[in-house]
Amino acid sequence: MSRDHVTLIEVGLRDGLQNEATPVSAQQRAHWFNQLAAAGLPRIEAGSFVSPRWVPQMADTDQVIAAIERRGGTQVEVLVPNQRGLESALAAGVDRIALFTAASDAFTQKNINCTVSESIARFRPLVSAAREAGIPVRGYVSTIVGCPYAGAITPKAVAGVCEQLLAMGIDDISLGDTIGVARPLEIDRVLDAVLPLMPAERLALHCHDTYGQALANVLQGLQRGIRSFDSAVAGLGGCPYAKGASGNLATEDLLYLLAGQGLHTGVDPQAVQAVGEDICRVLKRNTPSKVAQAVQAANRPT
Ligand code: HMG
Ligand code: MG
Repeated sequence: MSRDHVTLIEVGLRDGLQNEATPVSAQQRAHWFNQLAAAGLPRIEAGSFVSPRWVPQMADTDQVIAAIERRGGTQVEVLVPNQRGLESALAAGVDRIALFTAASDAFTQKNINCTVSESIARFRPLVSAAREAGIPVRGYVSTIVGCPYAGAITPKAVAGVCEQLLAMGIDDISLGDTIGVARPLEIDRVLDAVLPLMPAERLALHCHDTYGQALANVLQGLQRGIRSFDSAVAGLGGCPYAKGASGNLATEDLLYLLAGQGLHTGVDPQAVQAVGEDICRVLKRNTPSKVAQAVQAANRPT
């Protein structure tokens, strides 16, 4: 992939809808998936195979995947916490799975009911099984700068978790600023610790926008050679087990930034914006995306 191409991983239908008070039907989620795929998004999270007791909103992810039109090259990704999740994901016919842990024991305990070390031990056989099935595995490392329960996190702690994920054969890593507190200098320090372990091509940034720093953090990542970013249409997002986590960086805003930097994504911004408007209509919310707001204002009849 050339240096002026950026890969977007769309997480709104998982990171966003996992947090909605009212669950959204599988048919509706599949419809949005199909529209986002038609907009050119190359990788889209369709949901997660987690415990429905923990995250009821993701309970029917298998039905979402069954209703997705597998046209074009869009890859279907899901989050998987354990062996049972992996089996469900393979049965559903996903293209990729993502395992998720964090640089903070306190958060990991709340999110997946185990310590970071226990999560690593749990993941090892999952990575082997996924590789045998020919499915690439992403590893999420959450709370890379701040944890809602433990406070500040050191870059060394983040690098330690990345090292263990790499040692078990994970394909790529997404560094998550779960509660959106990070600023560019802090992202830079995390990258100082992680980039010696792995090439920038295998890293993504996953920026929540709670403190309005997500775009600045993406720019910092771009300067350090990162070319994959997670984002969410209509700025959806949050984690039910991360107090204070708000939406992800909006895909609409990320696309605007990247186009201005002369970087290519293959994604149609207008088509993404239309999906974002539909999502906001159905969820009865206003978009936090500044770009979506600006485009809507410009298109409003005077
Ligand atoms: P547990 O309670 O320790 O595990 O939960 P368990 O084995 O005792 O299972 C509890 C119940 O769930 C049992 O059912 C299991 O059968 C069932 P019961 O007998 O009570 O009826 N179960 C499952 N059902 C379906 N699929 C499965 C599954 N596993 C167990 N795979 C567990 C441990 C990991 C299961 C739980 O903590 C869990 O599901 N956590 C998920 C939390 C989550 O999804 N968080 C949001 C995603 S992470 C995030 O948003 C951050 C990210 O965006 C990056 C960032 O922003 O930094 C990725
Ligand atoms: Mg997230």
